[in-house]
Amino acid sequence: MQRHRDRGKLPVRERLALLGDRHGFTLELSPLAGWGTTDPLGGGLVTAIVEICGRAVVVIGNDPTIRGGSLSPTSITKTLRAMDIAETNRLPVVTLVESGGADLDKQADIFVPGGEQFRRLTELSAAGIPTVSVVFGSSTAGGAYLPGMSDYTIFVKDRGYAFLGGPPLVKMAIDEDVTEQELGGADMHARVSGLADYLAADEADAIRQARAVVSRFGAPPSVPGGPAPLYDPDELLGVVPEDPKTPFDIREVIARIVDGSSFDEFKPLYGPNLVTGWAHLNGMPIGILANNGILFSPESQKGAHFIELCNQLATPILFIQNITGFMVGTAAERGGIIKDGAKLINAVANSRVAHVTLMVGVSYGAGNYAMAGRAYRPRLVLTWPTHRIAVMGGRQLAGVMSIVRRRSAESKNLEFDESADEAQRAEDEARIEAESTAMYATGRGWDDGVIDPRDSRAALTVAFAISRDAHAAARQSAAGFGVFRF
Ligand code: COA
Repeated sequence: MQRHRDRGKLPVRERLALLGDRHGFTLELSPLAGWGTTDPLGGGLVTAIVEICGRAVVVIGNDPTIRGGSLSPTSITKTLRAMDIAETNRLPVVTLVESGGADLDKQADIFVPGGEQFRRLTELSAAGIPTVSVVFGSSTAGGAYLPGMSDYTIFVKDRGYAFLGGPPLVKMAIDEDVTEQELGGADMHARVSGLADYLAADEADAIRQARAVVSRFGAPPSVPGGPAPLYDPDELLGVVPEDPKTPFDIREVIARIVDGSSFDEFKPLYGPNLVTGWAHLNGMPIGILANNGILFSPESQKGAHFIELCNQLATPILFIQNITGFMVGTAAERGGIIKDGAKLINAVANSRVAHVTLMVGVSYGAGNYAMAGRAYRPRLVLTWPTHRIAVMGGRQLAGVMSIVRRRSAESKNLEFDESADEAQRAEDEARIEAESTAMYATGRGWDDGVIDPRDSRAALTVAFAISRDAHAAARQSAAGFGVFRF
């Protein structure tokens, strides 16, 4: 970091802070991606939804202080996810480029999938979603296609450079001796090659010019604003019990997030384990589905019905997950729990309104799917540190595996080793518990980031605000291709 500052350069988060509006919002995405893997924490990359000149923009910024800003598998996952968010919500993309390209120690894991980021950039452009690259430093090899595929490019004088092969490679390939700035410097690209549309005097000037470019993209509808909750959001820290098995009333969470703590409940007496109803979030109407226990048939039917109502009124939906799954056992099966659960999953999968999912407690089994888990493509998945996620709880999974082993031994007429089974059971339970934590989940990119529960209202406001942008900004590019760079 010191070496970076000594070169007169700003750290990536300071670049991002200057780019955003002074009193605007910033929602950083997946800051803990890569946790528990051999990749740098955060993937050496910051991705965020940032308010720039009053409109929400996806910003993807390399962190050059981590392995020269080179890209690991986590960097690719994070970049592609940020581009998904830009595409579904129709948000412009600004990339802050300063990267050594592929992390050469991991090239086999990123070279092929990494190509997608360049395809996605031009697809965004073709869909009428503008893209901007600001080049602060190295933009080498494949990285050169970040400015190459962007609609607008800004290069910092004497600092930003882009080339397909650096001076050592040029020497090796064609025996030419050349300096970095001669080969691909900002000045050359602004005057000769035409890769740079704007030449900035320094980093602050580049950020000013990027804001000017974004200011022409049109203003999105503003968030109307609404009264704060009557119940103190700070109390959210104490709402979820430490032991995930201790039940709590999910209305305690809703009351600390929505406008005026006002929640108009739908069918409160029917299927009480699924709480459904209407509320406002900073003036934006939303429907809420939230768990208050295991899902039975009535809960499933009520949920599907409520999702239909939200679609009829074009009201976006907030799912709040604390779900151990669907009910099992003879009574539930005879009652048709599979077909009723299927109705809820069908409704979630085919619903056309925007979904946002907040993970506050456990998320086990098909309950994860029915409540708009990641695979059901909610606009954003935000997670509290109290979240647990797995196919089932650790104790249950270890117990199931033990029964399977016992039956297998019986069917082969083998003696069952009780003490080995006991040890295996403890090992399985510990492993599943470790793989179920919020940190494990966010490390693998199963969500869009762990948030402080007290920030839920602010973060959800951004999530629903950007889905409104999509309605207003929906327009097809007349040409049907991305903006060509000439
Ligand atoms: N893959 C893996 N590690 C890389 C890397 C890459 N592409 N680029 C840089 N690093 C590492 C360096 O080895 C160094 O590691 P260390 O701290 O353990 O010594 C660290 O990142 C910082 O690099 P350094 O060169 O000291 O920083 P710098 O700011 O002076 O220069 C670059 C940064 C990116 C300009 C320079 O490292 C570079 O040119 N890298 C190679 C770029 C390249 O040809 N990439 C091809 C990609 S297809």
